[in-house]
This record gives sequence, C-alpha cells and structure tokens, in this order.
Amino acid sequence: MIRLSKRLKIIHDMVPNSVVADIGSDHGKLMIALVQSGKVQKGYAVENKEGPFERLRANLIRYHVNDKITPLFSDGVKDITRDVGTVVIAGMGGQTIVKILQAHPEKLVSVQTIIIDAHSAVPLARKEICQMGFAIADEQIVKEDGIFYEIVKFIKADSAVIGDEDLEFGPILRREKSAVFKEKYQTRISEIDNIIASGNLPQARIDTLNAEKHKLERYL
Ligand SMILES: C[S@@+](CC[C@H](N)C(=O)[O-])C[C@H]1O[C@@H](n2cnc3c(N)ncnc32)[C@H](O)[C@@H]1O
Repeated sequence: MIRLSKRLKIIHDMVPNSVVADIGSDHGKLMIALVQSGKVQKGYAVENKEGPFERLRANLIRYHVNDKITPLFSDGVKDITRDVGTVVIAGMGGQTIVKILQAHPEKLVSVQTIIIDAHSAVPLARKEICQMGFAIADEQIVKEDGIFYEIVKFIKADSAVIGDEDLEFGPILRREKSAVFKEKYQTRISEIDNIIASGNLPQARIDTLNAEKHKLERYL
C-alpha cells in the first residue's frame, strides 16, 4: 500500500465509491491509494504542469493502477467526463479551487460529491461551493508538520443555506470542537496576546485584535 499523509488519508476515507477525478494530482498518491483500497475502480488524475504530470504518469504505471486511473494533462475540470461522481481538489488555495470549479459548471452536472482541502480562504470556498448547489456533509481538521488543514466534503443539495459562523469555522467542526480545532484557535489567541504585549500598537488595532480574540474564545 502506498503511504498517505494524515491529510490525504482523511480525504481518502471521505471519498465514496464512485468515479473520481483528482484535480491537481501531482504524485498521484491519493488515486493510487483509492484503487489499492478497492474504493475506486475508475478515475482521472488531472495535472496541468509538465513535471508533476510526468511524475504522476510514472507513478500510476509503477503502482499498476494505469488500467483504472487515466492521467489527464489538463486544466481543472475542463476535460473530465460525465461519469465522474466525485471531484477532489486538495492542496491549493481556496480561491484557486473556486475558480477551477466555477470555470466549467457544465462539468459538475453529474457530480454528487466535492471534497476540498483548501490551504487558504476556506470560508470563501465553503460559501461559493454551497452557492453552486452543494451542502457540507462532513468536515475534519488535522495538524501535520505544524500546519492546520481543514478538509470539507460537499454533497449535491437542493438548497444549502449557510450562516456566517458556519462559513468561518465550519458547521461540523465548530460543533464537534475537536482537540485540533481548539488548538488551532488557541494558537491564534496566543499569537494575538503576543502581538498586543509587544506594545506600540495604535488603539484601533488593539481593539480589532481583542474583538477577534473574544470571538475565538466563544468557540473553545
Ligand atoms: C500542492 S500540489 C497538491 C497535490 C495533491 N493534490 C495533494 O494535496 O497532495 C497542487 C497541484 O495542483 C496542480 N494544479 C494547480 N492548478 C491546477 C489546475 N488548474 N489544473 C490541474 N492541476 C492543477 C499543481 O501543478 C500541483 O501539482
């Protein structure tokens, strides 16, 4: 079995049995693991850069999954086929993820599940994907090499209304309040304390930081 990072293992476990397109597949590890675990019989590994694409293609051959996983040298979801039921986009900024999904809405017509791991702008990604007709079905937060990652699974929905607090903290994450979730915001609160203690800040900046701190404390 190919070894997955904690982050990719969470994504793997969220993927339903379906035809999967992994956008920005790079090394192809996720798709290889999905075939090895028997979750996926058919899928697409999409890359738009030559170096990663060659590495991806070689890995699919090396792990003997090239009969099940088709490598696509392509941009985002542009060339995925109608049989794709699950789209995974991991390891990119939230704005890039949204741009990729919004570029070809016609490609998402048969897609039932979208799983994202946005390394920035997670609230924006939650908002925009909900507006595209998907609702949040699962979320997990993980810390790896000192970095916090939020992984969000969306499923197709008739309506997906989401409030501001759910956008910012995640509807499932903020209710579950896992140890990692608390650590993330405790870390930010300590940062704020240190910034304020370092002194010489205008009062307006101190007020803003204190407001953020008090908001975060409500979630711990
Ligand atoms: C940081 S890597 C993440 C790899 C893997 N998804 C993961 O999470 O470990 C992002 C990959 O996405 C690729 N990428 C970025 N924009 C893309 C796009 N529009 N279409 C296809 N691939 C893209 C990059 O070339 C890079 O290999």
